[in-house]
Amino acid sequence: MFESGPRIFALFGNPVGHSLSPLMHNTAYCEMQINASYVPFCVRNLEEAVRGIRGLGIKGVSVTIPFKSEVGKHLDGLEESSDRIGAVNTIVNEGGRLRGYNTDWIGFVRDLKEFMPVQGKTFGVLGAGGAARAILFGVLSEGGNPVVLNRTAAKGEALAKEFGCSFLPLSEIGVLKADCIVNTASVGMAPQKENSPLEERALGKFPCVVDIIYNPLETKLLKDARKAGCRTRSGLGMFVHQGAEQIRLWTGTEPPVETMRRVVRERLEENARN
Ligand code: ATR
Repeated sequence: MFESGPRIFALFGNPVGHSLSPLMHNTAYCEMQINASYVPFCVRNLEEAVRGIRGLGIKGVSVTIPFKSEVGKHLDGLEESSDRIGAVNTIVNEGGRLRGYNTDWIGFVRDLKEFMPVQGKTFGVLGAGGAARAILFGVLSEGGNPVVLNRTAAKGEALAKEFGCSFLPLSEIGVLKADCIVNTASVGMAPQKENSPLEERALGKFPCVVDIIYNPLETKLLKDARKAGCRTRSGLGMFVHQGAEQIRLWTGTEPPVETMRRVVRERLEENARN
């Protein structure tokens, strides 16, 4: 069938108004000279929205809160990592067949490896929700040793068991020996910028602290960690790399990662000033 006009990519979430994905993706397509448009949709009915992907010939979709764990059941198949993680953040329309992928763990791993070695290192992974699952999968896939740290023991224990790693109640972080702490809880995300899941005095003994939050660029946790002498990393790189991997899946072409990082960083800095 003859096709004309731009390729359409979409974001499904609710809300989507503050997402930086449209800026990041559209900037990338422009620089790549790909005739494409990335459109955010505030989804009211997920099943109908997924039908719309086929009906409208949308080539690829990013999936965000609150649909990542729910969307899989409406698709035609899941790639292995998204199945194991139990979350889909990327849909690829493969000639009318919709396949779910997870690029969050890939984004995390790419950025983490730019920051520190992973193989054989111990990572305290704070939180036991959907985000923690992608991080655990990523750390394990690179030969790291994750320890689940969670406030609610039952939830943390169950997650640790599922991924074959150990668990420590968050209140016992004082006994943990780890090379790095990774926060996966949304505590500290804008607009709750003054909150942190850990007290400052718990941080100093860890060489590295990573927060997967990218807004603000420096969360209270990272500010405290920096003051305590830890090396720190925000979620910006993970966000950029998960989007870059979506572009690779949808277009088969290498995206301009540094341009993507720059536009997102500049927008976050601009938002912080206003
Ligand atoms: P997501 O699926 O986006 O990762 P979630 O399912 O709400 O989000 O999970 C959030 C995780 O952050 C949970 O593990 C939660 O701990 P509990 O299981 O004890 O609820 C953790 N979390 C949330 N607020 C926290 C806080 N103030 N301090 C420590 N952990 C917190």
